[in-house]
Amino acid sequence: MEDCSTLEEGYYRSTCPSAEDIVKNAVERAVCENPGLAAGLIRMHFHDCFVRGCDASVLLDSTPGSPSEKESPVNNPSLRGFEVIDDAKAQIEAQCPQTVSCADILAFAARDCVTALGGPDYCVPGGRRDGIVSLKHEPLQHLPSPFSNATQLRDSFALKGLTLAEMVTLSGAHSVGSTHCSSFSTRLYSFNSSHPLDPSMNPGFAREMKEKCPVGSERGNDAPLVVPLEGMTPNRLDNNYYVGLKKGRGVLSSDQSLMSSYVTAKMVRNRARDGDGWGKKFAEAMVKMGSIDVLTGNSGEIRKNLSAEMERMTKAMLILMTTLLMALSLEVVAVEGGRVLKSNEEVDHPQNFGGVIAGSGFPGTPAFATGFGFGPNGFYSFPGSGNGMPTFPGTPTHQAQNP
Ligand code: HEM
Repeated sequence: MEDCSTLEEGYYRSTCPSAEDIVKNAVERAVCENPGLAAGLIRMHFHDCFVRGCDASVLLDSTPGSPSEKESPVNNPSLRGFEVIDDAKAQIEAQCPQTVSCADILAFAARDCVTALGGPDYCVPGGRRDGIVSLKHEPLQHLPSPFSNATQLRDSFALKGLTLAEMVTLSGAHSVGSTHCSSFSTRLYSFNSSHPLDPSMNPGFAREMKEKCPVGSERGNDAPLVVPLEGMTPNRLDNNYYVGLKKGRGVLSSDQSLMSSYVTAKMVRNRARDGDGWGKKFAEAMVKMGSIDVLTGNSGEIRKNLSAEMERMTKAMLILMTTLLMALSLEVVAVEGGRVLKSNEEVDHPQNFGGVIAGSGFPGTPAFATGFGFGPNGFYSFPGSGNGMPTFPGTPTHQAQNP
């Protein structure tokens, strides 16, 4: 992982001084009309950074035969706010062509959304460059599932260089925005063979949720029903998320699992007690998350437009042409080396090079995708999943008690 110091505060000070203001204005305009978009953009930055680093790969459109991250069931149809980033990028391109990366615009926008929702204001260092690869299957491999237990959440964040405390702190983003019923309603109706209702859920809260998410919504094939992730102050980014968890009012199984180990439950209680302290930690953790595996210097590129389908097609053509030229030059070398090829003999068929190029973009990654899937309206779990108890070495564990 790149060190945070490779990014720099005020990065566009001389090359595009108005960049951050343009993003801020675009966010404020959009959020004023629809506060839900702010939550959407905070989540989009998280989904960008956890998959191939913060390189705006989440914004790339599919190309023929190669569906992109946007098409992953983790992102489609629930990820929202693309139009806000599009608007900011278009305005910035008009003033400073091909200077400000889409990855930086998304990081600035996420910060502005945090602030617009009453959360902390903080500096976001810039200098990220945009990636050119985006693959549909990768979000499911890299993003934690809403059915993860605390140990799985810890491991998934650790793979990105984030600590357990930072995982608990960043989860506070679920103080805003909403979730589809299908992402959690197995907790209400088919938790496991002995408990149809997840015992870590507050019974009164479970009744409320059952009204909003009736039977069947766990399959995700009804109308796209949604509920707020935190019901007390759903449009305010504050520490009420942690207050809710203490009362068994976490909506996602992954959220409530933070109360099921001694260590994470203590962190939850601290954050519930000290909102300002949490806000400070949240800002720091967002900056750290925003530096995951960033492309800097000569890596990647500065995209002209966000989704960049045409640019990618052109690039793919260039790669193909280069490959062909390399293949041809190898053929010349073979001939110059004193041996004339037989007419049907092949030397480094272009596809061999193509294979290397395509293969080089696939890091070996563990899959966290077992035990759950995604319907048209969000996540669903396979029966019985989501009830694993986390165990941290050397710490006592206990089942969360409902008040
Ligand atoms: C800890 C592991 C996490 C899991 C398992 C998780 C999972 C989810 C799920 C399932 C949804 C609802 C999707 C839907 O059904 O519509 C959601 C929404 C959301 N997530 Fe997370 N998330 C996690 C961490 C984070 C982090 C680190 C952030 C940001 C820093 C974040 C920000 C959000 C926001 C703001 C929403 C609401 C989005 C909206 O209303 O459009 N989440 N998350």
